[in-house]
Amino acid sequence: MKKQVIHQTQKLMNRIILGDCLNEMKQIQNESIDLILTDPPYNIARKNNFHTMGRAGIDFGEWDKGFDLFSYIDEIPRILSKNGSVIIFNDWKNIGEIARYCESVGLEIKEIEDTLQITKQLFGV
Ligand SMILES: C[S@@+](CC[C@H](N)C(=O)[O-])C[C@H]1O[C@@H](n2cnc3c(N)ncnc32)[C@H](O)[C@@H]1O
Repeated sequence: MKKQVIHQTQKLMNRIILGDCLNEMKQIQNESIDLILTDPPYNIARKNNFHTMGRAGIDFGEWDKGFDLFSYIDEIPRILSKNGSVIIFNDWKNIGEIARYCESVGLEIKEIEDTLQITKQLFGV
């Protein structure tokens, strides 16, 4: 089992995978990743009435509209190694909900700043 994990991890080393993370993460071996650093969409695209101040709203494109802030988190406890960490960048308004979701899947919140740092509980999921 350990040998298989090392082999799989070496196949991922120094590679950039272009794909939907919801599919790609499913191909990753259990407990084989030490650090996940992610900057997913924040769902912050919206119109506003600040045009008199020179800001007519924020629009990053379709990828930032209606993004499910939680689905990708479901695979994390499975692929993260024991004592591995996750760093999630996000909008401060989403951070509370993301932290609660991470805890609900067995991750432990270590730090909330501009980023969330989360580690897998030793005896968690
Ligand atoms: C906040 S941006 C990240 C920007 C990046 N950190 C940079 O500096 O260019 C979020 C990115 O997630 C991508 N994205 C959205 N859904 C995705 C998915 N299911 N799988 C992989 N990437 C996705 C979007 O296309 C977008 O480029």
